[in-house]
This record gives sequence, structure tokens and C-alpha cells, in this order.
Amino acid sequence: MKFLILNGPNLNLLGRREPEIYGKRDYAALVAFVKECCASAGAECEVFQTNHEGVLVDMIQGALETGVDAIIINPAAYTHTSIAIADALRAVEIPAAEVHLSDINARESYRHISYAGEACVATFKGKGFDSYRDAIEFMAARLAGK
Ligand code: DQA
Repeated sequence: MKFLILNGPNLNLLGRREPEIYGKRDYAALVAFVKECCASAGAECEVFQTNHEGVLVDMIQGALETGVDAIIINPAAYTHTSIAIADALRAVEIPAAEVHLSDINARESYRHISYAGEACVATFKGKGFDSYRDAIEFMAARLAGK
């Protein structure tokens, strides 16, 4: 079981970026946390962060070549703007889960629309790092047919 975990713009600044919303732990801590969760769920994983929309599209398309069973994606601000990312998720037909550290529906109205989410089988939000853990466990159970 192989997971591709994608993180979008500004998530590299976790820890210093609006800590009252996103928490005090940094991006390296998130990567370590996500890798641990995948290992516990019996999944291999690759974890990437980019500030560029097209790079996220390329990585989603690239999942077709590398035997990825599920995509877990926090598209960050591109969640609310990118039809290209949503289309790429639909195009590859690999099950994807949307993740957010914050609860996007409890924030500004422009964060209430999620294009990416419409192309995902589930959304996990508002629980900080634990949103990723819930998504990983959900995908592992789904792939195991549970
Ligand atoms: C975010 C929520 C988005 O609205 C925001 O633009 C982000 C992070 C989250 O993880 O809570 O950059 O995706």
C-alpha cells in the first residue's frame, strides 16, 4: 500500500505562520508525524510540499507511474481556487482524501468552497496534524476493504 502525501503553498512555513491557526510545530515535524502514521497503518509513503500549482498537478499525474494507491492532499490556498488540481485528481482516478489543519468551514467565507474536495472521497479538517492521521487511517481502512 503506497500513499502520496501532497502539501501546497505556505505549509513549509508551519510553526512561524499564523501559529494561532496552524499550531507551533514546524513542517519537518509534520513530515515526521505523517511518516509515523503511515508506518503504523502499514503504508509506504512519499511526502512532498510545493508552493506551485502546476507542480501539484504534475505530482498528481506522476502518481499514475509510481503505483500510488491513494493520494492525501492539503492543497492549502489552492483548495479554494484550483480547478486544475481538482481536474487532475479526477483524471488519475486514484482515490484521494482532502486534509486541512484548520476548519475551513469555520473561517472566512472564501475558504468555504473547496474545488479539490469535490474530487476527493473524504475530507478531514480542523484537527491540526491529527487531520492527516485520520485521513491516513481512513484510506488504509478503505483500501483494506474495511
Ligand atoms: C489550509 C487552509 C487553507 O484555507 C489555507 O489557505 C492554508 C492551509 C489548512 O491546512 O488549514 O494554507 O489548507
